[in-house]
Amino acid sequence: MRIGVLTSGGDCPGLNAVLRAVVRLVEREHGGTVIGFRDAWRGVMEDDWEVLDVSRCRGILPRGGTIIGTSRVQPYATDGGVDLVRAAVDRHRLDGFVVIGGEGSLSCAADLQRDGVPCVGVPKTIDNDVVGTERTFGFDTAVAICSSAIDRLHSTAESHDRVMFVEVMGRHVGHIALHAGLAGGATMTLIPEVPVDMEAVAGAIARRHAGLSYASIVVVAEGAQPVAGSLDGTEYEVDRFGHQRLGGISQVLAADLERRTGIETRVTILGHVQRGGTPTAQDRVLATRYGVAAASAAADGDWGVMVGLQSDRIVRVPLAEVAGRRKTVDLDLYEQVARPFFAS
Ligand code: F6P
Repeated sequence: MRIGVLTSGGDCPGLNAVLRAVVRLVEREHGGTVIGFRDAWRGVMEDDWEVLDVSRCRGILPRGGTIIGTSRVQPYATDGGVDLVRAAVDRHRLDGFVVIGGEGSLSCAADLQRDGVPCVGVPKTIDNDVVGTERTFGFDTAVAICSSAIDRLHSTAESHDRVMFVEVMGRHVGHIALHAGLAGGATMTLIPEVPVDMEAVAGAIARRHAGLSYASIVVVAEGAQPVAGSLDGTEYEVDRFGHQRLGGISQVLAADLERRTGIETRVTILGHVQRGGTPTAQDRVLATRYGVAAASAAADGDWGVMVGLQSDRIVRVPLAEVAGRRKTVDLDLYEQVARPFFAS
């Protein structure tokens, strides 16, 4: 058994825990070999790799990042890329690849599988927006980092009677914002799934602060947008993969709130601190379960699936069902659980 493994897209706490688990299962249970390709598909196409064995993976369980690097390079966006991937399969006599990635990388894995390159997917992203699984690893760590930042912001907000905006990641979805907002006792949580009505936000905050000494915390997912036409949004740079560099919408919203209410605001953008450092125990467990499950699917020859979590059990979901889709926030949950605390 010879497996290629790669970590693709933005990094996330728990990647090394998955690698370690894949290697342990392949080497110890099946006497096989794992080849780690550096910087995702770049390493596959440019033949940049290393053998990952149990000794190479010692001590990496709690380490953030990924020991084999990551990138957003995709074979379908590279001239002759798919042929280069096929050549790598032949050269290294691979049974297939374990692809650890988010929605974009899993969609690419689904396309490769369709085009004859065997792939098993592992759902990774702090954003928790992959369909077919209730959890991606990295999410729990990001939520813990955000909620502890919110805890700290409460006291300084109270000292100054300010409204503190806290911007968290969540490009298309508001799972991190919703969970961190609930865990941190936010006054309001603004998510990409629901256009932001600043008139309503300002009205609620103004009522809350009227005549009283009060502080508020507004959690904003970076992908949140004002109701169309109500406020100028933000211009974002685009990187060489066509990926917008988000960040800063909370500054626009905070300035608008201050203009409307006269209440002083401050903005904290948590940024990549949410993705760095050691995974929580829960993410280490989930990542390890995913690694074992992915290597087992490969050993069974069950290619073309993603491993996922449903009702706390590991399942195999066809990659084709995951590709091109995103799991958004359950709006009933948002309305029932987050809304009652809005500005109250
Ligand atoms: O991993 C997904 C994500 O965390 C998004 O929420 C965020 O917009 C993006 O990564 C940032 O990516 P980059 O590392 O390219 O800045």
